[in-house]
Amino acid sequence: MTSMENAGKAAPHVLPPLPFAENALEPTISANTIRVHYGKHHQKYVDTLNQLIAGTELASLTLEQVIAATAGKADKASIFNNAAQVWNHTFYWKSLQPKGGGTPPASLAKRIDAAFGGLEGCKKELASAATTQFGSGWAWLVLEGDTLKVVKTGNAETPLTKGQKPLLTIDVWEHAYYLDYQNRRDEYTNAVLEKLINWGFAAENLG
Ligand SMILES: [Fe+2]
Repeated sequence: MTSMENAGKAAPHVLPPLPFAENALEPTISANTIRVHYGKHHQKYVDTLNQLIAGTELASLTLEQVIAATAGKADKASIFNNAAQVWNHTFYWKSLQPKGGGTPPASLAKRIDAAFGGLEGCKKELASAATTQFGSGWAWLVLEGDTLKVVKTGNAETPLTKGQKPLLTIDVWEHAYYLDYQNRRDEYTNAVLEKLINWGFAAENLG
């Protein structure tokens, strides 16, 4: 068996490709931030997850199954944290796009109007969730039952384990913005909402 085959068996999860070039989100998010955030942090979550589950019964599960199997289990917290961070980051990259922002597709816009009284109300709630999340975490637009909601989660926590369907997310860990905005999380959040957020991706997730 070659070393490549060994690596494949020990490492069932892989870092998905970025859906855009490293510098495609500039000037809102720099290529430098993406190199560290995607290339180092996201990669490290993948690598650590693979190490933690190697040779265990979790190694044969999909990423979503690993998250479901370890959520809320104190003795599996490290595995949950790394698995959820792999999932959350992949979802975050898809929640952004060059020349994003603007207005949602009609199917989503209608739901946003019903839930938030309009797009501005929705963006305000997302910005508020992002800036009031104490410490590291995530701001999300989710579908709960038939209703759109904005929620925030701490650290690696994800709406996937809370009966909610994620539509889009904003990473508010410091590593997402500190190189570009230092402590100004509100500026980062507002810039993402105005310039990068991918409403089309959120609309697709409505299903
Ligand atoms: Fe992150």
